[in-house]
Amino acid sequence: MTPAQLIAKCAGELDQAQVSFGQGTLQAADEAAWLVLYTLGIPLDVDSDTLTDEVSPEAELAVQNMLNQRIHARQPLAYLTQEAWLQGVSFHVDQRCLIPRSLIAEVLAEGSIDAWLNPQASTALDLCTGGGSLAVLVALAYPQLQVQASDISADALAVAAINIERHGLQDRIHLSLSDGFQTTQGEMDLIVCNPPYVNTHSMALLPPEFQAEPRLALAGGTDGMDFIRQLLLEAPQYMKDDGILVLEIGHEYEHFITAFPQLEVIGLSTSAGDAQVLLISKAALLA
Ligand SMILES: C[S@@+](CC[C@H](N)C(=O)[O-])C[C@H]1O[C@@H](n2cnc3c(N)ncnc32)[C@H](O)[C@@H]1O
Repeated sequence: MTPAQLIAKCAGELDQAQVSFGQGTLQAADEAAWLVLYTLGIPLDVDSDTLTDEVSPEAELAVQNMLNQRIHARQPLAYLTQEAWLQGVSFHVDQRCLIPRSLIAEVLAEGSIDAWLNPQASTALDLCTGGGSLAVLVALAYPQLQVQASDISADALAVAAINIERHGLQDRIHLSLSDGFQTTQGEMDLIVCNPPYVNTHSMALLPPEFQAEPRLALAGGTDGMDFIRQLLLEAPQYMKDDGILVLEIGHEYEHFITAFPQLEVIGLSTSAGDAQVLLISKAALLA
């Protein structure tokens, strides 16, 4: 078989097995391409017209083995390849952290927050940094910022350290083990936060691939707002007067507005709509 034929075959098997997507890819064709190209050692940005040479029987077997692990163990592909890409930036991933996919990455890439961010900004915090992807993307997007990145999980921080080194950002990103703002130093121009926000009902319905991720990274309590309630209470102490908070809430907008009916927020546009990533000023938090 050729790589192109293998991709088509794997896509069919992934669809038939009804695996879940959403941890790096959104459909079987993309997941199959990633699986086959990774296993054959072909760069992901290869011209698909060139995937026409027959592969060896050994390579075909390696692809089948990878596919079996994906389907039968219901493991997310990123945990099998130990790599994920966000806005074209590569990250190490393993079971110790959430697979990077935050919509905040889009907002950073598109400069959607620039109108609110002080041009003299110098400090940022990635709260709940997990494997460090948002801290790295903040540091790459805004070279003038010193970035603090914290998380309650020592396991996740070990992955973040790998990613910070991968991108040579050890001088600009400072990691700390922290429950919420516990170790935050000083006041921030920018806080980004993709917290655990999945409500209890949704947690119970998670497909196995998502259950393979750390529960601590996802579960946000009955209405998904447990962490966010504390965050919104404490954040002003750690923000400069014109500082901004960029908060991901996923599909929890209804719960969010029920919990914080008076809070003035700005919905930032993303590929998933404009109700999943919110921009909140310090003034709005104090109002
Ligand atoms: C949704 S994940 C986000 C990870 C990463 N920022 C990303 O976007 O891929 C949430 C993270 O919050 C961390 N976390 C959960 N409770 C926390 C707490 N009380 N204080 C700090 N971090 C916490 C988890 O360990 C997890 O890494």
